[in-house]
Amino acid sequence: MRQIPHHIAIVMDGNGRWASKRFLPRLAGHKQGVDALRRCAKACAQRGVGVLTVFAFSSENWRRPVDEVSGLMDIFVMALARQLPQLQADGVQLHFVGERSGLSTKVLAGMEQAELATRDNSDLVFNVCFNYGGRWDIVQAAAKLAAQGKPVTELDLSRALALAHVPDPDLVIRTGAEQRISNFLLWQSAYSEFYFSDKLWPAFDEVELDLAIKTYQQRERRFGKTSDQLVAGAASATTA
Ligand code: IPE
Ligand code: IPE
Ligand code: MG
Repeated sequence: MRQIPHHIAIVMDGNGRWASKRFLPRLAGHKQGVDALRRCAKACAQRGVGVLTVFAFSSENWRRPVDEVSGLMDIFVMALARQLPQLQADGVQLHFVGERSGLSTKVLAGMEQAELATRDNSDLVFNVCFNYGGRWDIVQAAAKLAAQGKPVTELDLSRALALAHVPDPDLVIRTGAEQRISNFLLWQSAYSEFYFSDKLWPAFDEVELDLAIKTYQQRERRFGKTSDQLVAGAASATTA
């Protein structure tokens, strides 16, 4: 498989450890994480990735110390205002994915303004999962169907999920040397390829991204079939 993954999803983990190693406050790591994200989004667009989805704040991150949570909210609002012109110039269409209730009016206003301003762009669809949890998403989708009195089918449920506007991720990357999903795209990652990087998120750069893509390209995605079936399918496709 030589294709560039159409949809890359990333658990951006390791900001706090990156800062602690340098005797800096954790928030300094989160600020550096924004720079890493800006570089990564640009690199994805340059490589022909169609959709980038990142995990920026989980449903469970509210459990952190109050100062860290409020610092993260401030960094989010500032980063959004600062990055918006460049995102516009790069043709990025922004989406914020997650539970909106519980977020401050400042955060909500920033989200709504950025989504509105970028909605006609089409070079890269950029989903920022904020106050997001995979379980929250499945529950809100099921509740929507229940309210409509609909039977629950796989197709209906997937259409009611918060990421219904994009296909499932081909590649899920997690930085920060942890090998777990931490309530990220539980439904959508059913057949994603996983790549775990030991790099802490602020240190994740273009070289690391290319390594992840190269590793992905060496995988065989079988979706339940046998390897022989895939080879036969590819041969008949080329002779047809
Ligand atoms: C990821 O980095 C960013 C968020 C969860 C907001 P962490 O803050 O989890 O960094 P570590 O894992 O403590 O190093
Ligand atoms: C996952 O990282 C969430 C984000 C990157 C936003 P965490 O640091 O919160 O994950 P755990 O707690 O180590 O599993
Ligand atoms: Mg972490």
